[in-house]
Amino acid sequence: MLKLGVNIDHVATVREARYRGQPAGEPDPVAAALQCEAAGAHGITAHLREDRRHIQDRDVLRLREKIRTRLNLEMANAPEIVAFALRLKPDIVCLVPERRQEVTTEGGLDVVAQLAPLRETRQRLSDAGIPVSLFIAPDPAQVAAAAQVGSEFIELHTGAFAEHFADPAARERETQRLIAAARQAHALGLQVNAGHGLNYENLATLRRVPHLVELNIGHSLISRAITVGLTQAVTEMLALLAGYRG
Ligand code: PXP
Repeated sequence: MLKLGVNIDHVATVREARYRGQPAGEPDPVAAALQCEAAGAHGITAHLREDRRHIQDRDVLRLREKIRTRLNLEMANAPEIVAFALRLKPDIVCLVPERRQEVTTEGGLDVVAQLAPLRETRQRLSDAGIPVSLFIAPDPAQVAAAAQVGSEFIELHTGAFAEHFADPAARERETQRLIAAARQAHALGLQVNAGHGLNYENLATLRRVPHLVELNIGHSLISRAITVGLTQAVTEMLALLAGYRG
């Protein structure tokens, strides 16, 4: 079964727009996470950024304490954040780029250029019992490098797929790139997640990509929740994922 991880950063973004620097405020990303879980989401994803733009340390600590599914902590490979993750012990860490020099042309982590530091962090997290995923573009060199890092998972960056979705030829090209990357990763023993820009419209096409374990979805789901509520937004997304045949 294809799993749904709900990215709740966007809830914190709304809160921070009004309450930046204050110790509390609505909406509460933890309350939202619990509602998503109750509606059947398989996991909660939060990105603790170095600049604390949306999710705050207290959010992640409360998520760790309260949620009953799985906490996927997205983070940069930065010493302060790695130390935080080692204390927090999320169920999985997904390393993502935050700085320009860490980013490939397509927006994923440039694993090829950062093999040694990524391998070192992956090892430290593995030693603490935390599985690691790498957020990468569907690029054969990046997939191969991810295997060399020794991560258990990759998360394929679906941003280009989402961005070109309206153009049938470009959509097909991006879908084929995701299919090829998923096959390559699977053959290398990597588990495959995907995320960024996925929505209620493009998921039917994404279902053509094989070997997917989990999708991390934020913006479209939280946006839909504004009109139909979180429970309904999660239920509708789960129904789309149920059509996945691997
Ligand atoms: N996966 C990763 C690694 C992300 O950083 C994000 C947020 O940009 C998402 C998934 C979710 O993307 P979106 O909010 O576009 O659904």
